[in-house]
Amino acid sequence: MKEHIQALLEQTVSTLKQQGKLPAELEPRIQVDRTKDKAHGDLATNLALLLAKPAGQNPRALAQLLVDNLPASELVAKTELAGPGFINFFLDSAWLARQVDTMVADERANVPAAEQPQTVVVDYSAPNVAKEMHVGHLRSTIIGDAVVRTLEFLGHKVIRANHIGDWGTQFGMLIAYLEKLEQENPDVLSSGLSDLEQFYRESKQQYDADPDFAERARNYVVKLQGGDAYCLNMWQKLVDVTLQHNQQVYDRLGVSLTPDNVMGESMYNPMLADIVADLQQQGLAVEDEGALVVYLDEYKNKDGDPMGVIVRKKDGGFLYTTTDIACAKYRYQQLGADRVLYFIDSRQHQHLMQAWTIVRKAGYVPDSMSLEHHAFGMMLGKDGRPFKTRSGGTIKLVDLLDEAEERAAALLEQKQTDLSAEEKAQVVNRVAMAAVKYADLSKSRTTDYIFDWDNMLSFEGNTAPYLQYAYTRVQSIFRKAGVSADALAGKVVIEAPAEEALAQKLVQFNDTVKSVADKGMPHLLCLYLYELSGAFMSFYEACPINKDGVSAEARASRLRLCAATAKVLQQGLSLLGIDTLERM
Ligand code: ARG
Repeated sequence: MKEHIQALLEQTVSTLKQQGKLPAELEPRIQVDRTKDKAHGDLATNLALLLAKPAGQNPRALAQLLVDNLPASELVAKTELAGPGFINFFLDSAWLARQVDTMVADERANVPAAEQPQTVVVDYSAPNVAKEMHVGHLRSTIIGDAVVRTLEFLGHKVIRANHIGDWGTQFGMLIAYLEKLEQENPDVLSSGLSDLEQFYRESKQQYDADPDFAERARNYVVKLQGGDAYCLNMWQKLVDVTLQHNQQVYDRLGVSLTPDNVMGESMYNPMLADIVADLQQQGLAVEDEGALVVYLDEYKNKDGDPMGVIVRKKDGGFLYTTTDIACAKYRYQQLGADRVLYFIDSRQHQHLMQAWTIVRKAGYVPDSMSLEHHAFGMMLGKDGRPFKTRSGGTIKLVDLLDEAEERAAALLEQKQTDLSAEEKAQVVNRVAMAAVKYADLSKSRTTDYIFDWDNMLSFEGNTAPYLQYAYTRVQSIFRKAGVSADALAGKVVIEAPAEEALAQKLVQFNDTVKSVADKGMPHLLCLYLYELSGAFMSFYEACPINKDGVSAEARASRLRLCAATAKVLQQGLSLLGIDTLERM
């Protein structure tokens, strides 16, 4: 919709340029927005205000000139000038009705696949080996997965990259500790290692307390880096046990990551020496007190001097940044990415910017490939402090999901239903997982997010249970009407304002999906689905369907509006990784 109006305005500008009524060098960025108040039409543009100054014309007169030269379009019923020079567009209701009709018949709900599919690498989740996944990884996982699903739906080739933290000096200590545990109990990995966090903590304690152990650990680091078979095997066991843990969480949450998507830090390790040598040869990296450092003018330290980014330590070890340099290079050169999206905590922003500045300077990645940090804030408890257990420990995701199920069961207990025990269990599970995911997805990811059970498990407001419930409402209308949503007669005719409002919302689905893909912001889709459900509820109140006195035409038209609503709700929720229910 927006794009269509944009195209009309583009045509108008170029016609006016040809006629000499606008300066030929003008290349305006045409913006079309939805209006807040329907009295001002459905869409509006500030184009005339934008052009007035460079064109040397009065903004209102210019707006009139634009309107007078606008090509005819079936979308637009009328235009109006407003305020100092805004142009408002009123959409045609016959056109809207036709859109809803095609939506009912179209399995993609009128969202076309991208004309130029891209190869998009999405870096998300990325937990660390021998550590429990924490709530920060939950945010990355859930938001990243929604964007992955959206990009795939639009026809892009998506490569999921789970950049797990599976390399580094801590592995000496972890291997030595695993060895110790295995001496006591050879089956420790298959039976006992349910708490990775505890394992990590204990091995650190041992390292700090026992000099012999520490010596052995340091020795193992060197051996591991040298490719020693025993150390590699021990390391692999730690990686595998962690991946098993994580996979359970992914599966339970319905996250689309699999073990095949792991591209961890260790994968880049063999590339680092050559990259560092190349940076040195290019004169980008220089020696400084035994370390190799890249000085970046773009970043200044406290004294105002260029900031130094270490790419190789004095002892020859590489760093997290060195790995991310290799990683960006790999994603361009080996994976052929057009775009790489990183869903990482905002505290790692500077780290990424430094790595990417180096990558661009070294010519590893051209400007045509976009590197995007889709940052997010922290997950906070209700008290506004970082989300932790009462004793200050990391909250285990498994415990969090268990609690979600208990609470969802209690919530649904209050509802009168005639569901069987089996159906009920499924509803509880789906509502619980949806609530946890949706609570995170529905907030703008850049801000900190307050985790609050009561808000997320409510049937009111912008919540998963509310949307899942809206979907079941539509399904119950079809059951009552005794018809199937995929075999509907008649056509959509828009008469009541509530029908018009619902149809308007429905046709915004396409624009919304596209902006989620462009901006990596699933909360836009959440808000849209919430508004759609609201429009549907108002429509259902104002426009009866299964009542006496409703004409056959009106009934058919309204059922089609219901079918389109159900389709968009289901498709939209599935892009967010949320399951719908037929009944609840
Ligand atoms: N493992 C890191 C962490 O837990 C996140 C990795 C993100 N991806 C990347 N390419 N640096 O903080």
